[in-house]
Amino acid sequence: MTQSAFSYADDVLHVEGVSAASLADQFGTPLYVYSRSALTEAYRAYADACAGHRAKIHVAVKANSNLAVLNVFARLGAGFDIVSAGELARVLAAGGKAENTVFSGVGKTAAEMREALNAGVKCFNVESIPELHTLNDVAKAAGKTAPVSLRVNPDVDAKTHPYISTGLKSNKFGVAFADARATYAEAHAMPHLDVIGIDCHIGSQITEISPYLDAVDKLLDLVEQIEADGAQVRHVDVGGGLGITYDDETPPDIGEFVRTLLAHVKKRGHGQREVYFEPGRSLVGNAGVLLTRVEYLKPGEEKNFAIVDAAMNDLARPAMYEAFHRIVPVVKRAAQAQVYDVVGPVCESGDWLGRDRELAVEPGDLLAICSAGAYGFVMSSNYNTRPRAAEVMVDHERARLVREREEVKQLFAGESILPD
Ligand code: LLP
Repeated sequence: MTQSAFSYADDVLHVEGVSAASLADQFGTPLYVYSRSALTEAYRAYADACAGHRAKIHVAVKANSNLAVLNVFARLGAGFDIVSAGELARVLAAGGKAENTVFSGVGKTAAEMREALNAGVKCFNVESIPELHTLNDVAKAAGKTAPVSLRVNPDVDAKTHPYISTGLKSNKFGVAFADARATYAEAHAMPHLDVIGIDCHIGSQITEISPYLDAVDKLLDLVEQIEADGAQVRHVDVGGGLGITYDDETPPDIGEFVRTLLAHVKKRGHGQREVYFEPGRSLVGNAGVLLTRVEYLKPGEEKNFAIVDAAMNDLARPAMYEAFHRIVPVVKRAAQAQVYDVVGPVCESGDWLGRDRELAVEPGDLLAICSAGAYGFVMSSNYNTRPRAAEVMVDHERARLVREREEVKQLFAGESILPD
């Protein structure tokens, strides 16, 4: 296992001090389980490396927006990065503060901007000229000035999966690098906008530092030009994207990543600027597992299938990105392992969670799908009218249900049939 808060004692997987088997018995499966200490450890790695620097951490809410998870970070002093009014509401409900929140996203609506402006968010990360105009209009109507950073597309290759690479010219995100200076000039001239920063986000599950250094260099070149044009750039937001170990990836550790970037900014003579980070996956990914029970074993001529009670609606990443998640038994068996495809009950061939996995399992056994804390529950759906899983947070010896399992009747509670 790559997750330190998840380890075996007497051949039973434990989450901190609690047996995963007892969690499955108590709360049922499929079940997302998070470790508070793993969340805390990852956050502290960022915070410790930022200490003594003008640096801020904004947790990317999209990676895991459970209130208990957000609250752990809020208590540690985190800021947040949101992409919708819904995420803003979650941050506030979890004890986060609007003034420590940045609002990203390529398609913010005027209504969302209004809400965020009234709540008092720290910065709008704007991605296009039309969005600047909309925000300026919204701010004018509200009698306010909106703090703005422009998301610039630095056109660097983050060397990750195409679906989660965002900093290339061909992506929909950000203002094209070549247009950035002129866009800043436009923003600077808008009376209800206050240009305060620059940002980028080059992709996700990035396992090397060099694409970040390239992106920072391009951003800082631009900052020098923008300031020569009269606008002031107080912060540089390098986005999120640091990868984690799912299998055999070897991303830089969080401290090394942060220290290298901060040193680079300083070396370039920009040490006076605030540096923002927007991590998601690297904070929560390895702080969570998805527990599932084997329903049936189905031997076949070409493949053996282990059919489990979790599915692509619970964890979409394998179906969507062919993502690899380690799958381990909750209780180790001495029996001979066989090779299985671990699949769910949804009626799609794409409904798989792991392929060609060596497992010694029997029907009724529990499996843990590892590294499921990021983009797991948040991307789950009700496809096949499957209620979404429950979520539990473990804190030392205690486990607390932090989201109830959905019930089928909730799923169509808002629907109605025609009267005649
Ligand atoms: N900031 C912005 C503007 C973003 O778009 C993202 C993620 C982040 C921060 C956080 O990135 P992270 O540190 O988590 O890599 N569903 C995909 C990942 C999509 C990432 C989208 N943007 C997956 O399951 O791999």
